[in-house]
Amino acid sequence: MSAVRRKTTHSLRKQYERKEKIVWTTCYDATFARLVEMAEIDVILVGDSLGNVVQGHATTLPVTVEDIVYHTRAVARGCQRPHIVADLPFMSYQANEDDGLRAAGAMLKEGRAQSVKIEGGEYFAPMVHRMTQAGIAVCGHLGFTPQSVHKFGGYRIQGKTEDAADQMVKDAVALTEAGIHMLVLEMVPADLAKRITDTVDIATIGIGAGTDVDGQVLVLQDILGLNNDFKPKFVKHFASMESTVVDALKSYKKEVQEISFPSEDFSF
Ligand code: KIV
Repeated sequence: MSAVRRKTTHSLRKQYERKEKIVWTTCYDATFARLVEMAEIDVILVGDSLGNVVQGHATTLPVTVEDIVYHTRAVARGCQRPHIVADLPFMSYQANEDDGLRAAGAMLKEGRAQSVKIEGGEYFAPMVHRMTQAGIAVCGHLGFTPQSVHKFGGYRIQGKTEDAADQMVKDAVALTEAGIHMLVLEMVPADLAKRITDTVDIATIGIGAGTDVDGQVLVLQDILGLNNDFKPKFVKHFASMESTVVDALKSYKKEVQEISFPSEDFSF
C-alpha cells in the first residue's frame, strides 16, 4: 500500500506546468479538513478569514498568530494530502521583518503548515526574500487584501485605474523575484488578472479575478452555502447547507421534545 503523500511546492509547481488548475479552499478545523481531503482539493488555506467565519468579527484585523497556529494544527491533524497554507495575520509582519520571520516560523513549526501567505506588494519583497532564504515557502496576496480594508475604504475591487493596474503588475513581479511560489489575486478585473498571470512564472490563484488564472480559492463556508445572507458577486454557493443544518437541528429538537429520541435503538 502506498503512503499518502502531501502536496508539496514541487508537486504544485508540476501541476502548474501541466496547466492543471490548482484548487484551494479555506478550512479551519479537523472535521472539515477530512472532507476537503476526500474531495481531493489541492490546497487548504487556513485563512485569517477565520476572524469572520469562525470568530464572528466584522474584519480579519483582530486575528492573532496564536489563532492561526491553533487552527492550522487542527487542520493538519485532519488531513494528510492537501498542501496547507497558513495566513500571516494583521500586524504579525507589518512592523518589522524579524516579527514576520518569527510568525512565519511558528506557522510551520507549531502549526505544521507547509507554506505561509502574506498580503501586500513590492514593499514586502525584502521580507519575502528573507523568509525564503530561511527556508520558508511563501505565497503572496494582491488586489483586495482584507487586512487593508480600512485603507481601501471598504470591500472594493482593486486595480481599476491604469496606474493601479501597473503597480499591481510591478508588485507581482517584485514578489515573484523575492521567491513567492503562488500568488492570490482577490477582487481584481479579469483582464488585469490575466495580465499578471501572463507576466509571472508562478501560479496565480483567483478569488473574484475571472478564469484566466491558474487556480481558484473560495472560503469553505461560502462554497457550502452556510450563510444565505452573505453572497458577494464572486461567491457561488455550491450547496445550500444553511437549510440542511437548520432542518437537522429542528428535527433533533422536535424528537427530543417528543421523547422519540433517543429511542431503544440509541439507548443502552
Ligand atoms: O483569509 C482568507 O480566507 C483569504 C482568502 C480570501 C484568499 O485570504
